[in-house]
Amino acid sequence: MKAVLLAVVWAGTVLFASTPAPIPQQASAAAARPAKADGQAIFTAQCGFCHGREATGGASGPDLTDSELVEKDVNGNLIGPVVRGGRPEKGMPPFALSDPDLKAVVAYVHERKKTVDEKPGRRRKVTVEDISTGNVEAGKRYFDGAGGCAKCHSATKDLAGVASRYRGLALMQRMLYPTPQNAVQPAEGEKPRPNPAKVTVTLPSGQTVTGSLAHQDEFTIALRDASGWYRSWPTASVKYTIDDPVTAHADQLPKYTDEDIHNLVAYLQTLK
Ligand code: HEC
Ligand code: HEC
Repeated sequence: MKAVLLAVVWAGTVLFASTPAPIPQQASAAAARPAKADGQAIFTAQCGFCHGREATGGASGPDLTDSELVEKDVNGNLIGPVVRGGRPEKGMPPFALSDPDLKAVVAYVHERKKTVDEKPGRRRKVTVEDISTGNVEAGKRYFDGAGGCAKCHSATKDLAGVASRYRGLALMQRMLYPTPQNAVQPAEGEKPRPNPAKVTVTLPSGQTVTGSLAHQDEFTIALRDASGWYRSWPTASVKYTIDDPVTAHADQLPKYTDEDIHNLVAYLQTLK
């Protein structure tokens, strides 16, 4: 916990320190661009399911471009507390975003609002009907073909019964964002699973240790080995590689059309 806090403070310090310094044009442009792209990426990954990928409302969260709170927000003074504290009783979980990440997300939400306000005719609401309009056959074709899902999954093995474990919106959310930290609404009675990301740590002696990723920040890398032991090392003293199959899901997000998603959900809903 301390390490995580330190990492956040450290990242903040570097940002502040580097902004006013007379850095070369190229470096400052490079530093500014990812911060902007991040807001959208973070929003897509963490908020998009509920609020819609474009913040115009989703399966279970309101249209943020139409929100009075967002309208009145100045640099995150109102959005920040909602994100950090959540509204658990209303279905919005709290998010432990770092200051720079929060700032980027807030900027993205305002940017979306501005775009939508300029073209009010294009406002599109995503409704619960979205999960009941798909075509099962088309979903199966996408699963086995263009979607590449069958490379890692099988309808008769790991995904058998997935529609009994998660229903409707929860299933759709699980399909879009299956990483443990994004599984904000775990299925009822769901057991904690090992992180599917595998880490291989190479010690200074050349010995390697592998296991499922248990923790990672700037200072610490930790895994749980085959016998369940938690082992951690300072990142500075070892080399490590992470192989995370779930990144395939994040990579898929910008490729899906809404229709693909609806069809896939319709198909997955048959796997009872
Ligand atoms: C699991 C679904 C879910 C996720 C994920 C989620 N939200 Fe929400 N959010 C909600 C719901 C539901 C509400 C409405 C709560 C209420 O009615 O008071 C809400 C409300 C809000 C509001 C207040 C809107 C208003 O007009 O009162 C903001 C701002 C907001 N969310 C931003 C975010 C951001 C930014 C993220 C990502 C970091 C996020 N939310 C992730 C479900 C979610
Ligand atoms: C590179 C491998 C890979 C690909 C390709 C892939 N997934 Fe996954 N998927 C995973 C991993 C890993 C998990 C997480 C499993 C866990 O948490 O135990 C997962 C989880 C899921 C889950 C949740 C399963 C559960 O029981 O919670 C669903 C549903 C799912 N994927 C559907 C899809 C669909 C649909 C596609 C194609 C668009 C797809 N996946 C493509 C690796 C992949």
